[in-house]
Amino acid sequence: MEMATNRAFIFLGPPGAGKGTQSKRFARRCAVPHFSTGDMLRDAVSRGTELGRLARPIMERGELVPDDVIMKMVEERLAEPDCAGGVVFDGFPRTLPQAEQLGRVLESKGFGKPVVVDFEVSLDVLMRRLTGRWSCSVCGAIYNAYDAPPKVRGTCDHDGGKLVQRPDDRPDVVKERLVAYERQTMPLADYYRRQGLLDAVDASAGMEDVSRALEAIIKRIEGRDGRL
Ligand code: AP5
Repeated sequence: MEMATNRAFIFLGPPGAGKGTQSKRFARRCAVPHFSTGDMLRDAVSRGTELGRLARPIMERGELVPDDVIMKMVEERLAEPDCAGGVVFDGFPRTLPQAEQLGRVLESKGFGKPVVVDFEVSLDVLMRRLTGRWSCSVCGAIYNAYDAPPKVRGTCDHDGGKLVQRPDDRPDVVKERLVAYERQTMPLADYYRRQGLLDAVDASAGMEDVSRALEAIIKRIEGRDGRL
């Protein structure tokens, strides 16, 4: 799939819905950056930067990092040349103020209206996905002990890196992340629906089916708006 210029994709959905898995694939296929605020924050935490020291306790409690901190990080990254042709946002925006500010930033950069996809999935599926998730400590590839295991237990298929579990995938923290999602992020679906920008996929389906559903959405938008 090829994408021309200036299109932002926003993958919305609860923790564990598969946004990271699909947005990485999707960004690779469209040759645009995968823009995950969660990955950026985890990187800052692991490097012990000022941002990381601020974000760490908030993330460990399953709460959201303040909007002004997120927007500064996002705007700095968006200003880099590789983002000029389009981006796939994963886990951003997550609050109404973030969505409103993103709208202004995209407009000022000459981007078209974003394509927003809501990942719909039930709670029992989310718990299985989060408790079974392992990620590569080197490249960040995502696996699942139940549904997408690596070839060799504990080892990344791509680079042999050690697989690790995220500290915020503990059941007590997952509960808080779901509360934050319901209170602060779920209203974004209505926000984008009102603007006629929202599509949805059944994210409980298998990975290939979800990828196909995303492609179908893109093809439909291409047909409507011309080539993306
Ligand atoms: P973030 O890293 O964004 O986490 P999240 O949104 O909670 O989402 P996850 O990464 O947990 O899930 P996912 O939907 O990406 O699922 P995945 O593809 O991995 O945020 C972490 C924290 O950072 C937040 O709590 C907050 O503190 C902070 N933060 C980040 N952004 C912020 C922002 N904008 N504002 C404020 N604070 C922010 O899949 C999960 C598992 O399921 C994997 O094991 C995978 O292999 C498996 N799987 C995926 N798809 C399928 C499928 N179709 N079938 C079977 N298994 C599947």
